[in-house]
Amino acid sequence: MADESKDRGLEKGLTSYGDRGFSLFLRKAFIKGAGYTDDALTRPVIGIADTGSAFNPCHGNVPQLLDAVKRGVMLAGGLPVEFPTISIHESFAHPTSMYLRNLMSIDTEEMIRAQPMDAVVLIGGCDKTVPAELMGAASAGVPCVQLVTGSMLTGSHRGERVGACTDCRRYWGRYRAEEIDADEISRVNDQLVASVGTCSVMGTASTMACVAEALGIALPGSASPPAVTADRIRVAENTGATAVAIAASKLTPDRILTAKAFENALRVLLAIGGSTNGVIHLTAIAGRLGIALDLARLDALGRETPVLVDLKPSGKHYMEDLHRAGGLPTLLRELRSLLHLDALVVTGRTLGEELDRLDAPFAQDVVRPLSNPLYPQGGIAVLRGNLAPGGAIIKQSAADAKLMKHEGRAVVFEDAEDLARRIDSEDLDVTADDVLVLKNIGPKGAPGMPEAGYLPIPKKLARKGVKDMVRISDGRMSGTAAGTIVLHVTPESAVGGPLAWVQSGDRIRLDVAARSLEWLVSDFELARRRAARPVTEPRAERGYLRLFLDSVTQADQGVDFDFLRKPR
Ligand code: FES
Repeated sequence: MADESKDRGLEKGLTSYGDRGFSLFLRKAFIKGAGYTDDALTRPVIGIADTGSAFNPCHGNVPQLLDAVKRGVMLAGGLPVEFPTISIHESFAHPTSMYLRNLMSIDTEEMIRAQPMDAVVLIGGCDKTVPAELMGAASAGVPCVQLVTGSMLTGSHRGERVGACTDCRRYWGRYRAEEIDADEISRVNDQLVASVGTCSVMGTASTMACVAEALGIALPGSASPPAVTADRIRVAENTGATAVAIAASKLTPDRILTAKAFENALRVLLAIGGSTNGVIHLTAIAGRLGIALDLARLDALGRETPVLVDLKPSGKHYMEDLHRAGGLPTLLRELRSLLHLDALVVTGRTLGEELDRLDAPFAQDVVRPLSNPLYPQGGIAVLRGNLAPGGAIIKQSAADAKLMKHEGRAVVFEDAEDLARRIDSEDLDVTADDVLVLKNIGPKGAPGMPEAGYLPIPKKLARKGVKDMVRISDGRMSGTAAGTIVLHVTPESAVGGPLAWVQSGDRIRLDVAARSLEWLVSDFELARRRAARPVTEPRAERGYLRLFLDSVTQADQGVDFDFLRKPR
């Protein structure tokens, strides 16, 4: 009979010295240096990925969460062992957080695999951390449960409720338009982030929190409690106890993160008016399990899944309001008829069984009923056309209805530096009817696909009150941003996608209802421009940049490294 003890607890994955007994003897000697008893060292080991960092205020409550997770683990009979991983904050990652997401996923995967743990709690929160952790844990294959840090509180400016970061952009737009002065924008700056925690609107962090819960890899009801609440701490304690249970039952992530679970997550992404980044992250996580997420399927789901959650930037509320409205379960109850109810949740129950356990609904105004949606279709639409043969997306629920069908003259910026140099020039030849195009901000172009797809309205138009224009790029945009913004144009310009040859003065036609993005030039003219100005793909001599440029995939493959995806 196989000795199962060799595959669990401290006996897992022994360092190789050629003598198993000595390896275990040495490992125990070292950890006993930290004061552990033999009793403690026979318990199931629960790793806790500690992503606390002074550079990451979105994870500012990680010390409290660690305490609570450890309490939950110990109450359930396990031994909690936290370990550090890379932590990424959106505003403290150069050149962009996306450039580092895959590095964090490798770190997470290899640390889970290298260290002896029977299950792992993944503490994440800020935009790239949850996808990086789920990508890594999916590849490592050890039972895991996601715990998000929770949203920050909202602040107040002159009696108006504000929160990061939809209101950051709105107030900055007012400042650029010279509607408010430097003193006032400075006072707003004090109020936008009222506590530690993740952005308080339905940005990427909130989206990934909801998506993790919808996938079943986080506890039911765990997405919405704000970072500084007792509810968040209780979720952490329960997550610790759950980790001990999945260690015993060997509930590996591949049994939870199935094709049905991803389809449930896409439904939720659409119904919450979630961040467009969610599409890329879900594609990347699924790719680690050999599951293909198809943009055509996303669009089909979008046509029958309305936006029900009334949060900024699509609506008016904040995450703490969603929590008061019952959290994500309130939405899942409403979407019940559209979900795969047999999908397994980390609790060991199915999604349907979890929904059966919910309390009765109560009156609230954050999650709309299916009969009265905020937006009749899903928040994200998939576009095709000769400008984006591999697809592009638009967050239609946060776009200007008047621009959803629009033809205009292209005003082209070759890269982010060109944009910064010319966008506010009084000499810029631009009108409100034009289409702003930004190249070279795709996965390889910038590199790291920065959230620069939210091109600012040229100052001279902003001063005249122009609030939105059609904007197109191969980059991403923050989930907290709004506007008629076409993103993820694939293939990107840096690898020779058609976008590379768009010139100012060309005409571009967007028709969201028809799902089309057309560049009105002939094939002959495109061939002429290709021949006249061939594209050279970016390369690097050394280091992570070389790995990144050699290996990163396009948006439709999740911007993961090709060698990390599971072959199908
Ligand atoms: Fe961390 Fe928004 S910057 S969640």
